[in-house]
Amino acid sequence: MSTDLTVIVLAAGEGTRMKSKTAKVLHEIGGRSMVGHVLAAVQALDPTRVVAVVGHQREQVGPHIESLMPGITLAVQDDQQGTGHAVRIALEASGTTSGTVLVAAGDTPLLRGESLRAFAQEHEAAQCAVSVLSGVVDDPFGYGRIVRNDEGDVQAIVEEKDATADERSIHEISSGILAFDAEFLVDALPKVGNDNAKGEYYLTDTVGLARDAGLTVGAFRIDDWMQTEGVNDRLQLAQLGRELNRRIVERWMREGVTVMDPASTWIDADVTLAPDVILLPGTQLLGATAVAQDAVIGPDTTLKDCEIGAGARVVRAHGELAVVGDGANVGPYSHMRPGTVLGPKGKIGEFVGTKNARIGAGAKVPHLSYVGDADIGEGTNIGAGTIFANYDGTHKHHTTVGKGVKGGANSTYVAPVTIGDGAMTGGGAVVRRDVPPGALAVSGGPQRNLERRVPREAAERETAAMGKSSGDEGES
Ligand code: UD1
Ligand code: CA
Repeated sequence: MSTDLTVIVLAAGEGTRMKSKTAKVLHEIGGRSMVGHVLAAVQALDPTRVVAVVGHQREQVGPHIESLMPGITLAVQDDQQGTGHAVRIALEASGTTSGTVLVAAGDTPLLRGESLRAFAQEHEAAQCAVSVLSGVVDDPFGYGRIVRNDEGDVQAIVEEKDATADERSIHEISSGILAFDAEFLVDALPKVGNDNAKGEYYLTDTVGLARDAGLTVGAFRIDDWMQTEGVNDRLQLAQLGRELNRRIVERWMREGVTVMDPASTWIDADVTLAPDVILLPGTQLLGATAVAQDAVIGPDTTLKDCEIGAGARVVRAHGELAVVGDGANVGPYSHMRPGTVLGPKGKIGEFVGTKNARIGAGAKVPHLSYVGDADIGEGTNIGAGTIFANYDGTHKHHTTVGKGVKGGANSTYVAPVTIGDGAMTGGGAVVRRDVPPGALAVSGGPQRNLERRVPREAAERETAAMGKSSGDEGES
């Protein structure tokens, strides 16, 4: 491929049909914005320079694009006078005058780098002045039609609104992705007018100009048309989101991941999975989540930006920015908030919430607990219903629990507090002061059994009523 490749991504349009306060190209599927998917495909080409044309909501779109591709040139199109106008502004901003120019739109999230590469290579090999990535579709409505002569040579691209009835019946259409010889493009763009149904400068008019000048025009077909489908409304966003997910899930299955129910399994584009991972129904793996081999996730589990160790088991859990060690167990019904780090073979059990907590190897928080801002040592067992009271109403404080601690049930550890290695806490203890290693901490007074101060007659009535109701049950 050309050593001088400029890629222009068009992202200035308004996206009215999204009916959103968020710019269209920033809507996400598969854990990335639509323009993020396009930029990832472009990045795979390793182009010489990339220009993004921004306009509508450019205060949002511009910084987002720059964050994804530092060093990209942003060209501002204040009023959207058409794709030809947008490309002209992009060329001026980048100073491109030679090499190959590839133009794509920012709203085609399924586009793949290898398709762009193949197209650019075909364009260059055929030494075309301009090439269009084309497709044949059942319903060509809305697309630019590719008009050929009797010899089959491409004559022009005619937009829907400008097409004659005959032209509208053409099913070969333009994807909107075009490749150019830069010298031709620089020369042709000023010749594109806006005397058409939309009053816009159509980039696609360059095809007719090349033909009139006797230059070579190429139309290269992409079989996987979905890659060039744009999103205009929320229905298409959901359709392409589902299709993207289907593709990602399928790819992982081919890589050796077991997916019991592909339709209810959602995997973001940046997730990585090892072979022999098993995903059960209702699993969502989001963001940069990574799962090591033999781990079993689900059912009904959502993990965002989590790292799950080999052979770990995560059942009906919700996690974000959490790390689960090899062979560890999580769930059912656990909530791991950011900063949770569960050691190898550790356990976060049912109805347990954790946040900013390092739980050591083999340590267990099995039942009904909240662990926030804490370190728990190896092999420690936190009693059922233990609350790490980390918040005094103003500040968050830290709790340190040593190794091999046996925590009693229904305890409260009032931070800041340290419980030493091998210590124990009694059931229901409220631990406010540090516990030395090996000590047993209890709190509260001794148990007192008080005589009930109920009048004798009332007690007798109560007893009689209880006997009657149990008798009724016996009869029924
Ligand atoms: C365009 C093509 C059409 C093709 C279709 C494929 C033209 C004239 N037509 O039509 O042949 O079949 O895509 O989807 O190119 N944009 C700007 N600035 C502008 C105008 C558009 O940045 O002034 C951006 C839009 O945000 C969008 C892309 O360019 O991302 C395409 O523009 P749009 O108006 O949607 O063109 P279509 O009518 O879909
Ligand atoms: Ca469009």
